[in-house]
Amino acid sequence: MDILVKEDYERLSLAAARLIAQQLRRKPESVLGLATGTTPLGLYRELVRMHREEGLSFARATTFNLDEYYGLAPSDPRSYRRFMEEHLFAHVDVDPARVHLPDGLAPDGEAECARYEQAIAQAGGIDLQVLGIGRNGHIGFNEPGTSLGTTTQVVDLTDETVSVNSRLVQAEIPRRAISMGIKSIMRSHAILLLACGPEKAEIVAKALEGRVTPDLPASILQLHPNLTVLLDREAAAFLSPGEAAAEVREVL
Ligand code: GLP
Repeated sequence: MDILVKEDYERLSLAAARLIAQQLRRKPESVLGLATGTTPLGLYRELVRMHREEGLSFARATTFNLDEYYGLAPSDPRSYRRFMEEHLFAHVDVDPARVHLPDGLAPDGEAECARYEQAIAQAGGIDLQVLGIGRNGHIGFNEPGTSLGTTTQVVDLTDETVSVNSRLVQAEIPRRAISMGIKSIMRSHAILLLACGPEKAEIVAKALEGRVTPDLPASILQLHPNLTVLLDREAAAFLSPGEAAAEVREVL
């Protein structure tokens, strides 16, 4: 695990974008795993800038988003498809045929999950997966208690997640979602976990330094062989100064 602590959100976003740009330049046909939420907004803003000003191309890349609300049309303003269009896809040269999100309107949820897993496998697996972390430690929409062996599945959201995420879009969100499972995420060749702000400090410390347990889904990331964690100073505040500090590289 490589933990990088940045001075602030702006620098964290730049560093995350540079890592993705590096991946795309090294392998233009990369398969990227993408996340939603407020945390990656700065990352997407910087990727759009790099595309416009520095010629960063997504033309040969394939993308898979972690999750989508179950029951929402792609055009729904609350959908993750809309979020991704607004903040990234509409502003870069990604091929729409190679953009993937679970279908929130799939009549058969189970079949949609199987189809999504198969599409990831057919693309050769995910090269680099971007992750945020929920306040309760969820990754994707894998809520506390999710078995570590799960692949893409229909999930029930906790009351806390429904209320936090409804506040974000200022409208009630569905209580179910389709999410890549913990195992789907852990199969990615590399993972980039982003967290910012004081409200993530406690869960970040528990996830990175505590016991690996299904009660805190992000803790399983400790076992990933190629995990980079990018934090701002506030989110890193509760990491213990002892053992973990040895791993913390200050890159200002
Ligand atoms: C949602 C997403 C997660 C994301 C989390 C954190 O629930 N499904 O993938 O990591 O929110 O969101 P934020 O970055 O807004 O704190």
